[in-house]
Amino acid sequence: MLTAISRYGARVLPNTEELVAGCKARGEFVEGPQIAEFEAAFARRLGVDPSCAVTAAYGRMAFYYILKALDLPAGSEIIFPALTFWVVPELARVAGLTVVFADVDPKTFTVKPDSVERLITDKTRAIIPTHLYGLPCDMDRLLEIAARHNLIVLEDCAHALGALYKGKPVGTFGTGALFSFQTLKPLNCYGGGLALVTDRQLARKVRQQIEALPWPSEKRVQDRLLMGRLQRIFIKPWVFSISLFPVLWISALIDANPDVFLWENIRSLNPLPGQYTERFPNVQAVIGLEALKHFDGWTAQAQANAQYVNHVLGDVPGIQVPYVPPGCTHVYYQYCVYGPEGPKRDDLVVRCVRRGIDIETLHVDVPPDMELFGSVKAEADGARRSAQALQIPVYCGLRRDQLERVATTVRAVLAQAAAASGGAARS
Ligand SMILES: Cc1ncc(COP(=O)(O)O)c(C=O)c1O
Repeated sequence: MLTAISRYGARVLPNTEELVAGCKARGEFVEGPQIAEFEAAFARRLGVDPSCAVTAAYGRMAFYYILKALDLPAGSEIIFPALTFWVVPELARVAGLTVVFADVDPKTFTVKPDSVERLITDKTRAIIPTHLYGLPCDMDRLLEIAARHNLIVLEDCAHALGALYKGKPVGTFGTGALFSFQTLKPLNCYGGGLALVTDRQLARKVRQQIEALPWPSEKRVQDRLLMGRLQRIFIKPWVFSISLFPVLWISALIDANPDVFLWENIRSLNPLPGQYTERFPNVQAVIGLEALKHFDGWTAQAQANAQYVNHVLGDVPGIQVPYVPPGCTHVYYQYCVYGPEGPKRDDLVVRCVRRGIDIETLHVDVPPDMELFGSVKAEADGARRSAQALQIPVYCGLRRDQLERVATTVRAVLAQAAAASGGAARS
């Protein structure tokens, strides 16, 4: 049987079950000393004072607590990229701020400094460079604009742990940063996130808010780990081939979008849902500590996989493989290419899916186009164009033969489309 290859590949420790059993045996499943150890190890890895890293129930909540700790005047404007995960600007609104969206460069998928600058008003207080898909933003220009307008910079590093800008890790450029530890993220702790701030005083204010929260119940943490285990099982090629893949295959035929079942329901987050306002449990910190030991190897493998796909796709006329500006290190949380002019993105996806390669279309959102945000101040043409890229699996868990199949299948589909459309590039 030809197995299908999933768009997702979680980074999984071979000894997860032993780590979980060890926590239970020590009575440190929910509360325990490894939370502080993990925070310190994470901070040290980024060269930051260990007291300046604080774990939270989600990356988005880490961001929320930084915003609350900053105590910006109500109605302050905060500038996000117009291509990002909707929950992050939504939580800025819950924190009482007015969100504004700057455009992104379709070549890099990151926020355009010129667009940020055009949107600054006397109410603007903060900008959020999101290192989308694992590529650092143009930090020199953004920091220069922020300094000139006296703005706070908070980096969204949910996709980008390990990425470097001019040799310096992302997450260490601004006043603060958020990291995510969801199952599919670069550092998988089966959920959770972390606030990294540059100032001890600010870290204390973030910590005070989080320490006032309840611990999650043991059952909640157990369910989370079980969900992670199920995700792991369902993305194994043979299980995927007989379970989720047929759903995707049929969806491709009938033009349905099953992604809506995979992601969180789009809705107002005010009031905050219950599971948002809990603490990060010890067992997940234990998994995070162990995962940090493997992290550089995983990143290097994803980078090598991306180089391989670049090599296979790079000479197809009309195809644009990911652009990495000089001085940036990309960690390829997502690998995005533009197909040729002519066929619609979704038709290309259908052709890949029919050949057993599950391709994602848009991993994040264009929030200014979402009803949830109403009519906001925004520039978003580049974000809309960026949403037309194809997201090809290059995750580190792919075996070499699987990676070769991904690359040659996508190449065949794109080359055929390019030949039919005369080879014009889309972006
Ligand atoms: C760009 C971006 N920022 C922030 C987050 C939030 O991370 P978390 O799910 O841990 O809240 C995500 C999650 O997918 C994301 O994609």
